[in-house]
Amino acid sequence: MLGTINPEILFLQQEDQIKAGLLDMKMILKITEDTYKMLGQGQIQNPPKVHLGIPEGTEWESFFNTMPSYIGGDLNIAGIKWAAESKKNATTPGIPYGIDISILSDPVTVLPFCIQDGTIITAMRTSAVAGLQAKYCAPSDTDTATLIGAGVIGRTMIMAICEAIPTVKTIYLCDLDLEKAEQVAKESEGKYGVTIIPTSDSKTAAAKSQLIVGETTARTPFIDKSWVKPHSAIVCVSNEATTDVVKAADVNVVDYWKQIITFKNKAITQVFDAGEITKEEVLETSDLVLGKPCRTSDEQFIYACSLGLGALDITVAYALYQNAVKLGLGTKVKLWDKPLWE
Ligand SMILES: NC(=O)c1ccc[n+]([C@@H]2O[C@H](COP(=O)([O-])OP(=O)(O)OC[C@H]3O[C@@H](n4cnc5c(N)ncnc54)[C@H](O)[C@@H]3O)[C@@H](O)[C@H]2O)c1
Repeated sequence: MLGTINPEILFLQQEDQIKAGLLDMKMILKITEDTYKMLGQGQIQNPPKVHLGIPEGTEWESFFNTMPSYIGGDLNIAGIKWAAESKKNATTPGIPYGIDISILSDPVTVLPFCIQDGTIITAMRTSAVAGLQAKYCAPSDTDTATLIGAGVIGRTMIMAICEAIPTVKTIYLCDLDLEKAEQVAKESEGKYGVTIIPTSDSKTAAAKSQLIVGETTARTPFIDKSWVKPHSAIVCVSNEATTDVVKAADVNVVDYWKQIITFKNKAITQVFDAGEITKEEVLETSDLVLGKPCRTSDEQFIYACSLGLGALDITVAYALYQNAVKLGLGTKVKLWDKPLWE
């Protein structure tokens, strides 16, 4: 397929992707681990995402992020995710809060060869990163986790935490909107071998948990120093934690330093900009999967956060593309029959 001058593009919609393994969290976790290894070994180019807020500034109503990457090694593919979120969607039934699309391209001919929905890939891989971070950061005897946010990523977070940390037996699933937590708990009942308890009181649940995971749309951080305790870990995919949590941590972990440090609303960036933490004191997810020590005692408190690695969207999309080709899934479209000019 790669290297051809045939301008054929395979279009995969969500239903095709699901048949191709989109909801296989074990597979996504494996791809996540492999992708971070490659990133740490310098086989991936992933410039920081470019953020376009509408209107401009931190008070955006919607945004679009452009996330290009090149994956070297045995894969040798280029790609981009066009990622978006809309505040209005959060209160509009029938449409997800975040909607993404991914394009895979041949780095030799630069022809695109696959376009696919990126929405559930984003949710799966975001939760897989949090699951991977939790695997290395949570105490070894973690049996109770509090997941805050029962939206799209809340659903995939249950899968990721259960798959990455098999010792977890109880999950408190929290949302400001208790009905959403109850609905997701009901959907997940009996699927993952854990007891899921819906609640709207995340702080009380967190006090009973060794692992706390934030996947909310909260604009103002609400997890402060009073949530911090020894023998625990907090993992956030959004902006739930205050700078005090970063400062209280025995170890801080980020998904990708070069990128997260460009986003000024991230607690870790604010602590770094204030000169209160150095790059050398922070571990990246690549460090974890490449064997750098992270948790050295169960008594430590560890904080981990992420902003999202575009390269991971592309490695997951490529795996789904390969499965889809084998299974004959998707719709073929063409850029042209014959290019008008060359
Ligand atoms: N780090 C990454 O790679 C990455 C990638 C994609 C999305 N995200 C972030 O993940 C977050 C969740 O996205 P989603 O698509 O699941 O959104 P969603 O709208 O489907 O769900 C978010 C849920 O959070 C709940 N919530 C908001 N504030 C809360 C609070 N203070 N306490 C408890 N619950 C609260 C909402 O009621 C909602 O149910 C967003 O902030 C998004 O930006 C991160």
